[in-house]
Amino acid sequence: MTLRIAHLSDMHFGGENTAAVAATFDHLVADPPDLTVITGDLTVAGAGAEFAAALAWTRNLTAAGVPLMLVPGNHDTPEMNVPLRLADPWGRWRAAFGRPDRQAYAAPGLQAVGFNTARGVQPRLNWSKGAVAQRQVRAAVDRLAQGAAGALRVAACHHPLVELLDGPMTGRVWGGPEAARRLAEARVDLVLTGHIHAPFAMPYPFGDGQTQAVGAGTLSVRERGTPASFNMIEADALEIRVGVLAWNGRALAPWMNWTFPRRQAPGG
Ligand SMILES: [Fe+2]
Ligand SMILES: [Fe+2]
Repeated sequence: MTLRIAHLSDMHFGGENTAAVAATFDHLVADPPDLTVITGDLTVAGAGAEFAAALAWTRNLTAAGVPLMLVPGNHDTPEMNVPLRLADPWGRWRAAFGRPDRQAYAAPGLQAVGFNTARGVQPRLNWSKGAVAQRQVRAAVDRLAQGAAGALRVAACHHPLVELLDGPMTGRVWGGPEAARRLAEARVDLVLTGHIHAPFAMPYPFGDGQTQAVGAGTLSVRERGTPASFNMIEADALEIRVGVLAWNGRALAPWMNWTFPRRQAPGG
């Protein structure tokens, strides 16, 4: 059995790449993956009209038979409305998409969870950076452990938990490396993230070295030296393949790819 997961991120509705977003929709609907994960920054500044556009797009996708799991990003709080941002940073998110933390999705052979690394306000100057509490990680690990033996375990959040050496920007996630270590020790297969607007895949240097950190690029016009893109991930019994489909101005075309051995059961 081959599982297929589409990994989209940083669509930034209000500043989306209209043609790339439309092509992505058509691609997903033509051959629906087992799950589509969007790892945050669905809006530019958490504005009501941006949430409405994001909600319309995601509703159309699920109506077309594409299962979806979403986590919020740092742009999904009301950036221009500081009183609201302080009082209820996730109110608009909740109204559109439900809970911003502890999302979960399960299907045969697949157990997925999402948690929120974005904060409305933080005790540091740059509120765009990430933070994760150990209780969030514990909840994610507990939920993933409910999956059947051999199920692909997928965690999703907005900020990369561990810094990329040559990434275009940083997440500086408080609690991030500890969370990555804990997820690796829990034998999570994939940790999907966004935020830096560039695709990547690499194993965490923790646990058995077989937990893959995977980043998706952006589908917005906020490109940082890379084209608009998203990831298609395939997992079978032996391998996990991460392929990037990039928008070249006319079509989606294969761009980068990585292949990792699938973690085998202990003694298996
Ligand atoms: Fe973003
Ligand atoms: Fe972000």
